[in-house]
Amino acid sequence: TGALRVALLGCGVVGTQVARVLTLHADAIAARVGAPVELVGIAVRDAGAPRDPAIDRALLTQDAEALVDAADIVVEVMGGTEPARSLLLRAIEGGAAVVTANKALLATDGPTLYSAADAAGVDIYFEAAVAGAIPIVRPVRESLAGDHVRKVLGIVNGTTNYVLDQMATTGLGLDEAVAQAQELGYAEADPTADVEGHDAAAKAAILASLAFHTRVSLDDVACEGITGITADDVAWAAQTGHAVKLLAIAERTAEGVSARVHPALVPLDHPLAGVRGAFNAVFVESELAGDLMFYGQGAGGAPTASAVMGDVVSAARHRVLGGKGPQESTYADLPVLPPSAA
Ligand code: HSE
Repeated sequence: TGALRVALLGCGVVGTQVARVLTLHADAIAARVGAPVELVGIAVRDAGAPRDPAIDRALLTQDAEALVDAADIVVEVMGGTEPARSLLLRAIEGGAAVVTANKALLATDGPTLYSAADAAGVDIYFEAAVAGAIPIVRPVRESLAGDHVRKVLGIVNGTTNYVLDQMATTGLGLDEAVAQAQELGYAEADPTADVEGHDAAAKAAILASLAFHTRVSLDDVACEGITGITADDVAWAAQTGHAVKLLAIAERTAEGVSARVHPALVPLDHPLAGVRGAFNAVFVESELAGDLMFYGQGAGGAPTASAVMGDVVSAARHRVLGGKGPQESTYADLPVLPPSAA
């Protein structure tokens, strides 16, 4: 078998780690896949910008389209809508498997990408789009595919969990705590997406789609962030035996699928209350399995790269073995409810 050619789109916090691991662990990955997996290029906006010394500068290119055209697997960690969307469609139409961490893109343009992938007979992998390192996409999509999920409750934004936790433990103000989260590499490039709940809402849409085998988009998710939460609110919550958490909730009701994001009072004896700092957790209630909780690092370069690399290995294995990976179901057993005030 010839080498599988990987194109990396983006070289930020996550992309740097992905490039590093693809190079450093090339032998182990080749052994796991059954063929060499070769990083053939890294598309960046500015090829002259300073980079981590682990990055081979000879791989950098500003011609993302040519790079995509030469790849078997395209890994998108640039974020944002364009040019990510066009590049991924180009990759799919050209027959490449796609690995993306782009939750905002999936939550808005997922159906377009999935349909294109169906038509081209290629796979889209997105474990890294929800809760970073935590395996949650595969478990919900595959392990629970024969169960009946009732509800998903997630702490899926590390920045806001860190901020609320800092407010509770140190009395720090919102802006100061957000600045710290930015320094630690958890926050989005524009942290309003974190504090306003939009990042969590994108993840809620993806989780709801997977859990309930339907298409839930960002517009279907009612969303309230943490900007209205004060240090007094957090202190009062603690006095009454609660932690304030920004929850992404996806629920099956008699009427349909509902998805929402809002700050919630979580009783201190609920496992989600113990999720501290920038950690994420997703709590799943299902008919057969009962309660499950998935916990770990939901943001940051290395944790997110772990999920991306798992997808790269899966995509590469499918290429080697032939056939396709898990598909998005287009069967909707329940209507998606419009967003309503939570
Ligand atoms: N800004 C996100 C967070 C990064 O804080 O969780 C991971 O999507």
